[in-house]
Amino acid sequence: MGKVGVKLAVGCAVAACVVASVMVGRRVRRKRAWRRVVKVLEELEEGCATPVARLRQVVDAMAVEMHAGLVSEGGSKLKMLLTFVHNLPSGSEEGTYYSLDLGGTNFRILRVQLGGQRSAIIGHDVDRQPIPQHLMTGTSEELFDFIASSLKDFVEREENVSEHSQSERRELGFTFSFPVKQTSSSSGILIKWTKGFVIEDMVGSDVSECLQQAISRKGLDMRVNALINDTVGTLALGHYHDEDTVAAVIIGTGTNACYLERADAIIKCQGLLTTPGDMVVNMEWGNFWSSHLPRTSYDIDLDADSPNPNDQGFEKMISGMYLGDIVRRVILRMSEELDVFGPVSSKLQVPFILRTPLMAAMHEDDTPDLREVAQILRETLEFPDIPQNVRKLVVRVCDVVTRRAARLAAAGIVGILKKIGRDGSGGIASGKNEGASQSKMRRTVVAVEGGLYTNYTLFREYLNEAMTQILGEEIAPSVIVKVMEDGSGIGAALLAAAAASHSTSSVDTVQIL
Ligand code: BGC
Repeated sequence: MGKVGVKLAVGCAVAACVVASVMVGRRVRRKRAWRRVVKVLEELEEGCATPVARLRQVVDAMAVEMHAGLVSEGGSKLKMLLTFVHNLPSGSEEGTYYSLDLGGTNFRILRVQLGGQRSAIIGHDVDRQPIPQHLMTGTSEELFDFIASSLKDFVEREENVSEHSQSERRELGFTFSFPVKQTSSSSGILIKWTKGFVIEDMVGSDVSECLQQAISRKGLDMRVNALINDTVGTLALGHYHDEDTVAAVIIGTGTNACYLERADAIIKCQGLLTTPGDMVVNMEWGNFWSSHLPRTSYDIDLDADSPNPNDQGFEKMISGMYLGDIVRRVILRMSEELDVFGPVSSKLQVPFILRTPLMAAMHEDDTPDLREVAQILRETLEFPDIPQNVRKLVVRVCDVVTRRAARLAAAGIVGILKKIGRDGSGGIASGKNEGASQSKMRRTVVAVEGGLYTNYTLFREYLNEAMTQILGEEIAPSVIVKVMEDGSGIGAALLAAAAASHSTSSVDTVQIL
């Protein structure tokens, strides 16, 4: 080999070494980056851990806070709002009633025909419409005018086909799923907005009046005779079908619960209620807080960036409005560590771009190569085709976030059961709770509504599993979680019917201590 040949060979060898060392270097860096990404997942798992012992602490905290919220106004982050609903539907309700259900991304109008016997809903028609985004942050007049004109169109369409006699007054149950301080069973003042609604001019106003005025502006002859929270509608429908229903939970865009409480346990208005017996209490559990809740840096950031910081802490860990965004934040964190996601996509920085139904679809993707995960990440977040190990990682993130949410919701439910002495432990000391042995035997039904529970199988399974773990194998079979489809809307029509038949069901304004 001549000199030139030797130089060439040496040059090639050096180049090969350089290429090899660059490749090795790159591989080492990738490995390290991958380890960091896995660490992000491990830290998430640790931060979101909900062992049964911790869930039991949440149960206890929920029961204690419920009690505190019943003792005095502002005594707890749980508002424990009075509803003035004493009479849950008995089954004797008869006639045709309307209801309007406003509370999430859609609103629904229903016309319900009741047959005068338990579980005898002859039929119901529903019109479902999305709320245009600009109306969620505009003025109350714009929002209610839009709703009232949809209501008018619906009534005209319905009554053309099924001849509602014009001499009958139309009665409307209004489901308004935000925190409301009720002044009677058909009126109340909006305390604050949640779930992305921000219509400042309405806070402090009477909700029924806003709707009633808009209905009159449209020239529609209809009276709002029940104003309820969606949880209360769900409880009403649950009770209509099954008298053992004592509580209702919504797990959808937002989350909340209500239950039937003894009037004498509502200490903050003792002596001021004129109707004896039980009353439905709207807990507004979305605002529950306890140091036992497993909170991560993602929750803290999400809260800080939300329109209602330091508010609705439990809701932000559980409900459909937020779960997708927690996942997005974790993926963003991971993508900062590993370029396999491609250059950090600007889409990934957009709050709420990964909606919870998409997150659920990724979580439940059962294709062998997680094709749907890849497709959602590509179409929603503009990620190039990402490798399978990263797809698996994303599914793990969805799993951790959903599992925590479902298990916390289960702990919340058991907290209610504990408060009313239906968890088999005898309840907390707040008066005359039933004995443990007797309550162990009682069949107890909790009505549930909301897309997260009804449409998301893994969420449902995690919630049910946690209920059994917390209650124990002996008690769990006597607690039945029952889905009440359209409960919030049909329940409002049932309560409008109940209000029409017992004019005593409302109590005038009470002074809260
Ligand atoms: C509201 C509740 C409502 C729940 C479920 C929460 O954001 O504050 O009033 O019941 O969402 O819709």
